[in-house]
Amino acid sequence: MTTYRGHLIHIGGAPRLADAAQCLVSEPDGAIVVDDTGRITYSGPFDRRPSGDAVVDVRPAFLLPGFVDAHIHFPQTYCTDSYGGGQLLDWLSRCIFPAEVKLADPAYAQRVAQDFCRRRISVGTTTALVFGSAFPHAQDALFRESIRTGLRTISGRGIQTVGPPSAEPLLTDEATAISLVTEEIVRWHAADTGDPATALVHAAVVPRFALSVTTQTLHALGELYDSVRDRGVYFHTHLNENVDEVAAVRETYGVQSYLDTYDSIGKTLLGPRSVLAHAVHCTRDELARMADTGTSIAHCPSSQLFLGSGVMPWRATVGSGVNVALGTDVSAGDEWLIPRVLNDCFKVHMSEPGDQAVALHPAELLFTATLAGARALALEDRIGNLDAGKEADFVVVDARRQELLVESLSQIDEYDRAAQLFTLLMGMREEAVSQVYVKGRKLN
Ligand code: GUN
Ligand code: ZN
Repeated sequence: MTTYRGHLIHIGGAPRLADAAQCLVSEPDGAIVVDDTGRITYSGPFDRRPSGDAVVDVRPAFLLPGFVDAHIHFPQTYCTDSYGGGQLLDWLSRCIFPAEVKLADPAYAQRVAQDFCRRRISVGTTTALVFGSAFPHAQDALFRESIRTGLRTISGRGIQTVGPPSAEPLLTDEATAISLVTEEIVRWHAADTGDPATALVHAAVVPRFALSVTTQTLHALGELYDSVRDRGVYFHTHLNENVDEVAAVRETYGVQSYLDTYDSIGKTLLGPRSVLAHAVHCTRDELARMADTGTSIAHCPSSQLFLGSGVMPWRATVGSGVNVALGTDVSAGDEWLIPRVLNDCFKVHMSEPGDQAVALHPAELLFTATLAGARALALEDRIGNLDAGKEADFVVVDARRQELLVESLSQIDEYDRAAQLFTLLMGMREEAVSQVYVKGRKLN
């Protein structure tokens, strides 16, 4: 048993977004007690803890839940701030497909996997839903490195059966695509423990987006996903990111709505382990269908700014009842640190037109970056906050490591928990992340 003593902040319980503020726990002299299996056995004021164990005293640092990145691209590790693209489809063809082709070299792919995992640890992203490489050896490197470093990772190879010339080396025929996905699931789903209920790594079925596959491939993926969803395999892709993309999908597939390509071509790909990135330009019906099926959105505001994708209307989206988690979308998003994406999230929704503008409560921001991510990944029984019973995924955030952050925090009334959390989340930079734990294991 180890006790970690610090300023404990998390969203307790299992609230909906609207109730996040009431569930904000902020315990200036707080503690979590972690047992030898990596589970939290106590969470609360330090002076009420069960006594007698070793204490790691991180005061005056904060203890926060590990950040959950619900959408990040592993083969784009070196591609943030790529010059030469326009909006989504141009940027993919000119910058991203050529960069992803480089992972055909196994030694290069291994280096990317190491850097990807190291970078995640540096920014406290303990759990991520990771858009994978087309190349199986690169996915092997990613899963191996994730297990070695102790991160929680859900990933699947990016499936492409059609695309522009620059994507050519990433494409396979449909039969190969299906067999590679099947092999990846066999090799890597719960590979670390053999049991999805205890594993840190999980597999996903990941077509790049509707435009990178065909009706036949989506049909076959629906059959495949239907046969593995009961084993806890995930589904992940992009949806309604960019207006030209949406128009191209409607034209190519002759569908009423983009979501139909994942929902109505054979067996549905939607469900409680399905996460769709962006969802900027959704119809009311699409949002309702996602909410009904338990499908989640990975909201990626930094990426949407970079690619000029538009702003996901916050009120209409969360008002539909769909769960909204947060994604960096590295590399279209050029921030690895989830709180920096929260910072963009706050700004873009504050800037929505007229009465759509919303000032997100800091507890809603923290909820979106942690518990909503855990919910999107059907891991809420294990992670997402620092309640007793959860697995101990947490970050130690020490404001003293960052110039002026202590001073900014010291300006705030010590009883104003919301203002403190707001300044911490909006203001913190990577250097403030001092320790990172997954399931009680220190990763840095
Ligand atoms: N849509 C299809 N592929 C991608 C990608 O790599 N990044 C983003 N942001 N959108 C996509
Ligand atoms: Zn993406």
